[in-house]
Amino acid sequence: MQTVAKLMKVFVTRRIPQEGMKILSASTVCEVSQWDSDEPVPREEFLKGVQGAHGILCMLSEKIDVELLDAAGPNLKVISTMSVGFDHLVLHEIKKRGIRVGYTPGVLTDATAELTVALLLATARRLPEAVEEVKNGGWTCWKPLMLCGYGLSGSTVGVIGLGRIGMAIARRLMPFGVKRLLYSGRTAKADAAELNGEFVPLDTLVAESDFIVVSCSLTPETQGMCDKAFFSKMKKTAVFVNSSRGAVVNQEDLYQALSSGQIAAAGLDVTTPEPLPTDHPLLTLKNCVVLPHIGSATYSTRGVMAALSAQNLLGGIQGTEIPTELTF
Ligand code: NDP
Ligand code: DGY
Repeated sequence: MQTVAKLMKVFVTRRIPQEGMKILSASTVCEVSQWDSDEPVPREEFLKGVQGAHGILCMLSEKIDVELLDAAGPNLKVISTMSVGFDHLVLHEIKKRGIRVGYTPGVLTDATAELTVALLLATARRLPEAVEEVKNGGWTCWKPLMLCGYGLSGSTVGVIGLGRIGMAIARRLMPFGVKRLLYSGRTAKADAAELNGEFVPLDTLVAESDFIVVSCSLTPETQGMCDKAFFSKMKKTAVFVNSSRGAVVNQEDLYQALSSGQIAAAGLDVTTPEPLPTDHPLLTLKNCVVLPHIGSATYSTRGVMAALSAQNLLGGIQGTEIPTELTF
């Protein structure tokens, strides 16, 4: 029997769903080393593990910077991130070195949109507080003013970044009886017409929306975009939801806005840092619902993301097609 030499070295930074590992294990072109844990690879181990690698399969929480690229060395042909977000990759340097990038757009859109809607409803209708009241005996009888929140019917929803996920969120929210859909971003979207979406300047969206959903990518332009000035323009009764990246929000300013009653409530699936320290001021607020970055966390979605990341990695090391290649 002929043995095929496993020539290429790939480094996988985390334990990933078996759908991805099966593809890598079956490959005859690569030798896989893996940080076989649910916890992040320590930076030192990461720098060591990538030495001489032809491909890296990484998570959104791993910074791929110049130091890491230098540690990997000249063999490196591809970085495959198991995420649609790519703000953790130093793209200009990656491009300079001719390294290709695979990512996972589209396959997590539905799961993330669904979670964002769940978070919006949980925040606006105060579900964590309500569950707590049942458990701690605060629920003594039906009271006309107990745990009132805000409903979507007749409301104006503003989506910042009407991309794949933003549009999927809007499509799911409209059937709740939303009256107006506003959106902002760099360009107007043809798709928005199906929902009568109005492309408006950010200031208009912030001032007129009852619910603001952030679903844009993190870029130098969007970093810290939701700050004191932003929150001060919001309605006092408005609900803010972020499922993009934590760094889009200035969290000190958000804390002030929430604790002073400047805005009604906030739901965050993403924070800075992640995890948010358990003694963080935002976690002391009843009107702030924080989730541990679970937008894409359905079993099937994570399986598809892992499989696609593996295929992207294999395409990259062989110099063939990367099914979902990032162009940059
Ligand atoms: P898309 O590229 O389809 O959408 C990104 C959107 O961001 C685009 O519509 C873009 O608008 C918009 N955008 C860029 N710059 C700005 C700006 N300055 N102001 C407002 N909008 C801007 O990506 P996806 O919808 O697939 O994913 C979006 C992001 O969601 C990811 O980058 C990731 O960070 C996050 N995410 C979070 C998840 C979670 O678990 N919470 C899961 C998956 C993704 P334009 O087209 O006009 O440039
Ligand atoms: C992404 O893909 O960018 C998310 O944050 C995790 O699925």
